Amino acid sequence: MTVADLRSDTVTRPTPAMRKAMAEAEVGDAVFGDDPTVNRLEAVVAERFGFEAALFVPSGTLANQLAMGVLAGPGEAVLMPEFAHIARWEGGGAAATFGVHLIQVAAPEGLPTLEGLAAHAYGPHLKAPTPRAMALENTHNWAGGRAYGAAQLGARTAWAKARGLACHLDGARIFNAAHATGEAAEVLVRGFDTLSVCFSKGLGAPVGSALLGSRALIARADRLRHRLGAGWRQAGSLAAAALYALDHHVARMCEDHSRAQRLAERIQRHAIGTVLHPVETNILQFAVHTRFESAAALVARAAERGLLFFPTGPQTARLVTHLDFDDAALAHATRVFETL
Ligand SMILES: Cc1ncc(COP(=O)(O)O)c(C=O)c1O
Repeated sequence: MTVADLRSDTVTRPTPAMRKAMAEAEVGDAVFGDDPTVNRLEAVVAERFGFEAALFVPSGTLANQLAMGVLAGPGEAVLMPEFAHIARWEGGGAAATFGVHLIQVAAPEGLPTLEGLAAHAYGPHLKAPTPRAMALENTHNWAGGRAYGAAQLGARTAWAKARGLACHLDGARIFNAAHATGEAAEVLVRGFDTLSVCFSKGLGAPVGSALLGSRALIARADRLRHRLGAGWRQAGSLAAAALYALDHHVARMCEDHSRAQRLAERIQRHAIGTVLHPVETNILQFAVHTRFESAAALVARAAERGLLFFPTGPQTARLVTHLDFDDAALAHATRVFETL
């Protein structure tokens, strides 16, 4: 059976050319600083985004969590938009691992308002957790992949800096944001002290993310990473996949966005549901049509016909396009929609 998998952009498999780059990578013990490919990736990424240093880590979750650990301490707070991945999908890690308190701020379409931030930026106060940092997410996954430009981000980072708060950007999909806004990725990340980027999502690498920041912050993050047991050894073949993706898979990402828009059009046309947010990138959230008893029922029926995606609530669902979802897969998805 033909299957199109739209559960996430993390489901991609390395292409033959990426596998070749991985197989041919020079490797060494990265804990000793001896892996030339890991070292090259960290240097390339730091330079590309305009940061002093970068740390190659296994996941976006770890990159974000290390940022929480270096920007705040026990009983201190980080402000972020409601439904931020860090708050919603990282297992309560900031609190469990570092004692850091996360405050979710009202954020229509994924971006906190200045009023919302101000309402939470109390302190110093005897009874309040001390806010130390603000974290934004671009694109914002749970807000339907909305992308924010430098002016919107800059207004928030300027607000945070004026109050002595450090700024972190969860840029798991920063290149999607760059395509959608027409602004360069390195411009979108200016004003942030730390940045996480993922190679294993729209970029199509099998594993890996990076945390970027100043040399001093990244040295502290490296210490925390080792404490958590995530120092890796001959990781050069994974770094090679990330380097390959940076060279070959950034420009093509706009195809994922246009296929997401075409999916949105078909979802409306075939009365599958109503799209909830403007489709700016590769994520599409929709309210499931009431002719289906629930989002879970729709998802199950689609899966029987070879189309995979997730419910996000009782009557909402999400589709994510990616490198392995081509025009043939779009045609298959459309045929499935016609039969539901
Ligand atoms: C916005 C965002 N940040 C971070 C992550 C975490 O990445 P990982 O799955 O590599 O831990 C995700 C995963 O989907 C995400 O969507």
